[in-house]
Amino acid sequence: KVADLKGLKQGQLRLAVITTAKYFVPRLLGPFCELYPGIDISLQVTNHERILERMVNNLDDLYVMSQVPEHLDVNCQPFLDNPLVVFAPVNHPLAKEKNIPIQRLANEPFIMREPGSGTRRAIQSLLDEHGLTVKVKLELGSNEAIKQAIAGGLGISVLSRHTLLTDAAEFSILDVQYFPIQRTWYMVYPAGKQLSIVARTYYEYLLEAAKKFVEQTSLSSYSKADSS
Ligand code: PGA
Repeated sequence: KVADLKGLKQGQLRLAVITTAKYFVPRLLGPFCELYPGIDISLQVTNHERILERMVNNLDDLYVMSQVPEHLDVNCQPFLDNPLVVFAPVNHPLAKEKNIPIQRLANEPFIMREPGSGTRRAIQSLLDEHGLTVKVKLELGSNEAIKQAIAGGLGISVLSRHTLLTDAAEFSILDVQYFPIQRTWYMVYPAGKQLSIVARTYYEYLLEAAKKFVEQTSLSSYSKADSS
């Protein structure tokens, strides 16, 4: 009977996710496709501004983002923490310091994401709150490119902790006041929209997968405060 039901789940699934979700969402598509071989998927990975444009133009079934649009009527479901942390090269002089005053960030060459990035917006609003400006040495439109620039000694940056994979040994996460910036990934779709069976199936699958991920890793779920 289960096999019959699986057979019914056929069609197209169109996903659009913010840049940091690419460290999570594509990996889970393998097992999903195995479960539902009749579903074909397209996945767009881009920044918040572009995701919003796609949503306004109704180009996709489901969106993953960490800043829910204020001016659009949407359904949103939080599913996993997405904290922003301060990345520095592994041998950075601040790497061993504790509780670094946020003002210290202003002295370091900083590598910043492009305008339209939610990461950039979150950093900017924390800096504004404290009346700080950072010295932007380099602006880059990719988290991976920023990591390479940090490893190359160009400066420090603030990125999602999810961007650290097997390369964690190359970086230090600085213990700066007011960090991590706590954020959450949400699954989002326009409020009036009826999800297809395929999209609904994926929605439930991703929630379940996030739960398992939390159980298997040290990342806390969005609902628990990260006290570390
Ligand atoms: P961004 O979003 O690609 O728009 O910076 C990433 C995030 O908010 O985690």
